[in-house]
Amino acid sequence: MAQLWGGRFTKETDQLVYNFNASISFDKKFYKQDMKGSMAHVRMLAKQGILSEDERDMILKGIEGILEDVESGKLDISDEYEDIHSFVEATLIERIGDPGKKLHTGRSRNDQVALDMKLYTRDEICEIDALVRGLLEVLQRLMEEHVQTVMPGFTHLQKAQPITLAHHLGAYFEMFKRDRGRLSDIYERMNYCPLGSGALAGTTYPLDREYTAELLGFAGATLNSMDSVADRDYLIELLSALSTIMMHLSRFSEEIIIWNTNEYRFVEIDDAYSTGSSIMPQKKNPDIAELVRGKTGRVYGALVSLLTTMKGLPLAYNKDMQEDKELTFDAIDTVKGCLALFTGMLDTLKFNKTQMAASARNGFTNATDAADYLVNHGVPFRDAHGVIGRLVLYCIEQGKAIEELDLEELKSISPVFAEDVYEAVSMDTCVNKRLTLGAPGEKAMREVIRKNQEWLENQGCLR
Ligand code: ARG
Repeated sequence: MAQLWGGRFTKETDQLVYNFNASISFDKKFYKQDMKGSMAHVRMLAKQGILSEDERDMILKGIEGILEDVESGKLDISDEYEDIHSFVEATLIERIGDPGKKLHTGRSRNDQVALDMKLYTRDEICEIDALVRGLLEVLQRLMEEHVQTVMPGFTHLQKAQPITLAHHLGAYFEMFKRDRGRLSDIYERMNYCPLGSGALAGTTYPLDREYTAELLGFAGATLNSMDSVADRDYLIELLSALSTIMMHLSRFSEEIIIWNTNEYRFVEIDDAYSTGSSIMPQKKNPDIAELVRGKTGRVYGALVSLLTTMKGLPLAYNKDMQEDKELTFDAIDTVKGCLALFTGMLDTLKFNKTQMAASARNGFTNATDAADYLVNHGVPFRDAHGVIGRLVLYCIEQGKAIEELDLEELKSISPVFAEDVYEAVSMDTCVNKRLTLGAPGEKAMREVIRKNQEWLENQGCLR
């Protein structure tokens, strides 16, 4: 047992209590951020005359050495320490002696851990943002390739109207674009430094909190020391944004799973991204898409878990809040893994254009356009709707598509039909006449792709 406190205790901590309380097994994940935060703190203490320049330099050198040794694998972060903060401080004292004992001046683990977690999540937000951007780039490439790939659009999972693959993928482009927006909103809102808030009520040392904040790249210092150590809103916001990313990935996965079935055969998943069966030799399963869909649950779980942990907590710090770590780490790692794998799977996915076009043709996806044809020839829409309903019924009985009927058959249903109806209900017309902004028509689609490209180029990294 290696802990920072103990002065006011007369008995040793029970080993089970120690284990239950300790956080080193997971908070060592932010060892780098912890040391970075300490170095900024020490620089500020020296600037304020609280530490001498010599002390500052010794401590900085000491921490740099620890960091190097941890990174090179020379120094192991041992689980004997209570937490990462204790590990760093104890190792520093071991290495440089008395000056190391001044590191924690004007600081509590409460503001320290609040800082570490912010630094860690800030770095991760940037990494996740880059992964989403990578996915958007693949989508953008596919959209450019498939502005003419006709497929059925669905509502209620029933064929509705013809669209293009570019248009369908464009819907996901919008979703992931909003996800990036959410990440950057969170980043901006959380980007205030809690260090210098102490345990809860600030400190009597003349700290320059704005200076520490500046050293660490924050927009400023937080303005209430109690809130600083008790705030986990940004983690809840982040888990919510991550849940939304997973929800989008999961919907997309579900579609790929459906498209990959024998019944649809819209896509073929690359061998590198599918798996086989131990018993059924013919199988090629969409396991990656299924796992992404499945892992969505644990990210939602993290969000609900943290909301529940926080709901009854009085101000300011409570140990309950230590629970924020494992679930946030797990959610972040899960989302990063899913984004990387999903992007690879999408990038190598083969689309079966012939099958998609055939599917669009045989599901009456042009029924709305047939009704519009009648409307354009003076039939009121409601009447046209009824006529086409009867026409579809007739087609089902005959086992034919609308465009497969001859003109006589069509005229027997409505005398308004003329030769030009075939042109009006062709898949190509149905898609390419839809030119409202955001619609699948090629011209409209190309305009959106151009706007997306501009957005991709101008939306820089978060930092
Ligand atoms: N391991 C703790 C956490 O993650 C660090 C803060 C400990 N503060 C304390 N007063 N025990 O929240």
